[in-house]
Amino acid sequence: MQQIANWLKKLGMSEYTERFAENDIDMAVLPDLTDEHLKNLGVSLGHRLKMLRAIRDLSSASVAATAPAAPEPTRQDDAERRPLTVMFTDLVGSTALSAKLDPEDMRFVIGAYHQCVAETVSRFDGFVAKYMGDGVLIYFGYPHAHEDDAERAVRTGLALVEAVGKLRVQEPLQVRIGVATGLVVVGDLVGSGEAQERGVVGETPNLAARLQGIAAANTVVVAEGTRRLLGNLFELEDLGPKDLRGIAGPARAWAALRASTMESRFEALHTSGLTALVGREEETELLLRRWARAKTGEGQVVLLSGEAGIGKSRLTAALLERLVGEPHTRLRYFCSPQHTDSALYPSIAQLERAAGFRRDDADDQRLKKLEALLAQGTSDLSEAVPMLAELLLIPTGDRYPPLNLTPQKRKEKTLKAQLAQVEGLAAQQPVLMVWEDVHWSDPTTRESLDLLIDRVPRRRVLVIITFRPEFSPPWVDRPHVTLLSLSRLPTKQRVDMITHVTGGKALPKEIIDQIVDRTDGVPLFIEELTKSVVEGGIVTETANGYAMSGPATPLAIPTTLHASLLARLDRLAPAREVAQIGAALGRSFSHEQISAVSGMPLQQLDDALARLVHAELIFRRGTPPHAEYTFKHALVQDAAYSTLLRSRRKSERFWRSNSRRRQKRSLKCWRIISPKPE
Ligand SMILES: Nc1ncnc2c1ncn2[C@@H]1O[C@H](COP(=O)(O)OP(=O)(O)O)[C@@H](O)[C@H]1O
Ligand SMILES: [Mg+2]
Repeated sequence: MQQIANWLKKLGMSEYTERFAENDIDMAVLPDLTDEHLKNLGVSLGHRLKMLRAIRDLSSASVAATAPAAPEPTRQDDAERRPLTVMFTDLVGSTALSAKLDPEDMRFVIGAYHQCVAETVSRFDGFVAKYMGDGVLIYFGYPHAHEDDAERAVRTGLALVEAVGKLRVQEPLQVRIGVATGLVVVGDLVGSGEAQERGVVGETPNLAARLQGIAAANTVVVAEGTRRLLGNLFELEDLGPKDLRGIAGPARAWAALRASTMESRFEALHTSGLTALVGREEETELLLRRWARAKTGEGQVVLLSGEAGIGKSRLTAALLERLVGEPHTRLRYFCSPQHTDSALYPSIAQLERAAGFRRDDADDQRLKKLEALLAQGTSDLSEAVPMLAELLLIPTGDRYPPLNLTPQKRKEKTLKAQLAQVEGLAAQQPVLMVWEDVHWSDPTTRESLDLLIDRVPRRRVLVIITFRPEFSPPWVDRPHVTLLSLSRLPTKQRVDMITHVTGGKALPKEIIDQIVDRTDGVPLFIEELTKSVVEGGIVTETANGYAMSGPATPLAIPTTLHASLLARLDRLAPAREVAQIGAALGRSFSHEQISAVSGMPLQQLDDALARLVHAELIFRRGTPPHAEYTFKHALVQDAAYSTLLRSRRKSERFWRSNSRRRQKRSLKCWRIISPKPE
């Protein structure tokens, strides 16, 4: 209680000391206090706002890293190490606002703002961890990691600036937003009852809070660690190095201005050029043959399947490079993980880009640009323009008669208008259509692909559709459709790729061996692991290559891959724990070992293993109880292992729950397999 007394004294509000003590309010519950609570305690409005701000500063400076008085975590086993993107938002000028407004009106304002934040955050699948007066703490990457968490956070921030600005409340509102990404421990439950929350420990929340503090009104400020994950997806302004309280050394900060207009995610994320193509000669040849056939009027479809990072986009880029200088029309469509439910999102984005819309274009300018675009494929604009203008939300005024269609009819006509456009273009010169990442497509887009693929055979069109293996395309049995699956690169090509990434400079053999081994021939993994070795100080540049900087250690998971690896595990929530235990046992483990150390009921364990096998995270040889399991990717194993707290890796938990006999056996296997050092 003395701490509270001191805290109140510091704020110049010692008059409340007694009332706080009477109500058992100590430092531990301070962060849970709401405006309502303080009001009930009889704290005046001005003082309430000051207190809430001070509480926020207190908690943001060390969200749950917190005060010694913080309660003991209740379920320590749930805590995890994971990469997280943390976002702080704050309402600008709320103190002034509350001085101006009647408290009841202020309450309404804050309520509308909170709701707006909650809705926007949930649209991007973020997690509102805590409201602190007008500040909100938000996580991206917890409870579920996404491969694009950093991007989601920034998109949410930009959307929030806009949405909050549009709120219809007494006064126009503005926000400040800070975003930072890093490794944290998340998940200890702190507090109790309603106030219970998942605390986060690490520097990242502090950094996000500090960046929010320096953000100008209506801007989103991101940390260097976040920026590195964003490529060119956004237009960023370098704010230079900043000295931030509680952060060691100057921190580089960037203001995210808006989403960039780059056509492709692949290109936006590869700003410093592509690694020269390694291998894939046969695949390139096949694509060129299909193109040659399509050009003669025998339209073709190639379904390009392969896991994330295997090189689908790279192969497509290689084809585009090969066709430079050849007359053809290129139509590119990109599905996005943030728009899986947004009808015809890839087509809308394609039309907007192709028409050359600019941010500040007025409606009639957009309409003119759309007309010009559609005129390239058809001479009859009377139907196409109003249909597609409606899709792009451009009002047509009295230039076209109103449509008055049922939703079903409207959809049919929209799809037809799109198709007619492609056919019109193909009548003039061959068309190459690329649909990327169709595993993220919305249902209407898939319907439009059904129609397109049926129409293709007699047109000069090659359609390339890329997707991950979890998507099963319904089009495989058509005669003009070819399925092409990309497999992992063989060892020799892995080494070639490493050399390309280092720009020809040789890495020490033990490093090359590790990269070749741990990346399992997935080009994305090879690229990122090699870059992280070169940039991470494990090696030092010499006159003719690189030399080890110190003793060889196992390579860490590159930060650029961490979230996406974890996302694969998070999708399988109940089976995840089994993956973690398996990961601690090694790349391969037996059914006997895992049942000995997991201490789980057999049925539950087998179900979990079956799910992991089904999701292709692990392979199984033999049948339980004599089965052997192997992680498909060493890096997924690493990611699963990395989530365990160090304390749990040593894992009294594993041993405590087992009988002595089992314990001995598992201890033995534990030693043999010897988990990797931290
Ligand atoms: N055959 C290859 N040669 C060189 N680099 C490659 C090759 N395949 C993929 N890459 C690189 O690996 C990364 C992942 O490939 P990408 O095409 O984005 O995978 P996908 O589209 O299948 O997810 C990219 O940076 C890409 O340039
Ligand atoms: Mg791709």
